[in-house]
Amino acid sequence: MASHWEEFYATHLPPTDFEDNRKLLQEFCERHNKRNEKIVLVTSGGTTVPLEHNTVRFVDNFSAGTRGAASAEYFLEHAYVVIFMHRLKSLEPFTRHFNGQKFMDMLELYERGPNTNITVKPDSVDVLAPILASYKAAQENGRILYVNFTSVSDYFWLLRAACECLSQFGSRALLYLAAAVSDFYVPSNQMPTHKIQSGSAAPNIQLQLVPKLLAPLVSLWVPHAFVVSFKLETDESILITKAREALNKYKHKLVIGNMLQTRRTKVVFVTPDSSYEVVLSREQMLNGMEIEDVIVRNVAANHDEYRKKFKY
Ligand code: PMT
Repeated sequence: MASHWEEFYATHLPPTDFEDNRKLLQEFCERHNKRNEKIVLVTSGGTTVPLEHNTVRFVDNFSAGTRGAASAEYFLEHAYVVIFMHRLKSLEPFTRHFNGQKFMDMLELYERGPNTNITVKPDSVDVLAPILASYKAAQENGRILYVNFTSVSDYFWLLRAACECLSQFGSRALLYLAAAVSDFYVPSNQMPTHKIQSGSAAPNIQLQLVPKLLAPLVSLWVPHAFVVSFKLETDESILITKAREALNKYKHKLVIGNMLQTRRTKVVFVTPDSSYEVVLSREQMLNGMEIEDVIVRNVAANHDEYRKKFKY
């Protein structure tokens, strides 16, 4: 009998750009595996659950992709090559610093007669220069690949394709699963083709559980990789228990627990035999430090330790 996740693939078609993305993933991974590089797959942002095949409405979640986008930058600093698998239009590494008005406020406009000049304000140059330098280095050396998803089924197809390419890296591969993946969905065969009409009674939408991909991912797809999952809760009293349950169930290496309300300043690292908090002090925050800087340093150190014990 097919397992829950196999059934999900059997009943959901791949996204239209799937083959293009698969080729990009294969090419990126082959090139960097030949060079013996360390690689990280960062998943980022939330998945949607469509309510109609011709989707007008969908269920979404809060994630903006801040954690994933910031972490990808720090992984590049730690000499990883990065596959940044993110929700379309969510935050991305580098450009996240210039989102919306922030970018406009960095510029100065001079109009003298027929000439118009735009310059970067002197105090913004200090902010812009290091980010631009890191961006250029990553782009020019082909050290980051961007692939995107929107729905939970896009996410499923891309994640499996990425894992198929990552398995050749053995223990040099790190999976950093920060995306907020939908837990419930409307099965394809129960979804209306066209827009749900509001003229009649309110619709009764029956959601089903989305299979957890951590199970095949850890046991079948990338069994030698260092896998880090995240756990988000709103009730602190269950956070560590839930993280431990995930470790026991999926047998991966590390769960990073965070609370919705405090996720920018505090996380808890839960391993099979320990748990410790990573907290950003007020002073560090005022100095512009980001918690992802500390998280990634810790994750990279844990990955290094793991690789020492591993022969692949
Ligand atoms: O984007 P931000 O605003 O910065 O927020 C970051 C974050 C809070 C979203 C992030 O830090 C985080 O906690 N992400 C995981 C959210 C969560 O609790 O996911 P989950 O309980 O649904 O899943 C647990 C783990 O299993 C996750 O690592 C997920 O990637 C993985 N998963 C989930 C569902 C599924 N079908 N298969 C999976 O493998």
